[in-house]
Amino acid sequence: MSGDHLLVAVTSPLPGRAESTLSERFAVRVHAGPRLLDQTSLAAFAGDAVGLLTLLENPVGEALLAACPRLRVVSNCAVGYDNIDLDTARRHRVWVTNTPDVLTEATADLTWALILAATRRVVEADRFLREGRFHGWRLDLLLGAGLQGETLGVVGYGRIGRAVARRAYTFGMRVVFSAPTPVASPDPPAVQLPLDDLLAASRVVTVHAPLDATTRHLLDERGLRSMRPGAFLVNTSRGPLVDEEALVRVLREGHLAGAGLDVYEREPEVHPGLLALPNVVLLPHLGSATAETRAAMAELAATNLVAVLEGREPPNPVVRGR
Ligand code: DGY
Repeated sequence: MSGDHLLVAVTSPLPGRAESTLSERFAVRVHAGPRLLDQTSLAAFAGDAVGLLTLLENPVGEALLAACPRLRVVSNCAVGYDNIDLDTARRHRVWVTNTPDVLTEATADLTWALILAATRRVVEADRFLREGRFHGWRLDLLLGAGLQGETLGVVGYGRIGRAVARRAYTFGMRVVFSAPTPVASPDPPAVQLPLDDLLAASRVVTVHAPLDATTRHLLDERGLRSMRPGAFLVNTSRGPLVDEEALVRVLREGHLAGAGLDVYEREPEVHPGLLALPNVVLLPHLGSATAETRAAMAELAATNLVAVLEGREPPNPVVRGR
């Protein structure tokens, strides 16, 4: 079947070969203007498209799906899909797909960049030097925290959590993890603990759970206060998993030694309390940001979309549609 008459809407220019994968088969409309952050502008853009390729900033729910009755697939260019109301997609019988696997290693690498930057005060030290304050080697200059023999607590033992754990062994760390259900043979091997025990045991806690109604503020004030004094928190998953207001309080009080954050509760806003703390490393949601990974994500999102519109099973279904 020729797809020339079928319109596919893409909410941002795509890297790599993804756009040609789509334009070889369909009419493609690529959005290049201001970000589409609400469903009304998304619906106006998508119009009578049968496929929509989205980023995690594009909200998909009733208002959009009701306004786009021809839509058969929403292909999210991200592993997370908390921007999409899955129940509504099911009700409209619209396929939803995501892009797992291709970003696992890049995100695990960036998580380690944050762990090392926070524990060894890399950003603070860089600033110190640029400010002309380095006057020679000193025994007590900018001392950080060593990881050898320490415990890494991985909250959520999915693909990315496990890739982060794998790297921990080369740093001589012991790994514990928490997950919503018992994991029979964890790979890599690690000890599963209830979340509270993990928080109490770990020198570094790293968060890798998906965001949904059950995980919002998974790390609330009580949880943050039950972390070991002098521990570090790292989050490269989704901001709302951590109560950011409470995190600022706990960091200010000095209960935690530092944090490394790639994601925020009200992204792209960052809590001013975090901006003021020198022991917090802040990145602008870069987990998967390598040129190779972003091209692979876009290509996979295009492949998922094409599969649905050509009547085949997409590689990464999240919701099955018509
Ligand atoms: C995702 O894929 O969900 C990330 O947050 C962006 O890489």
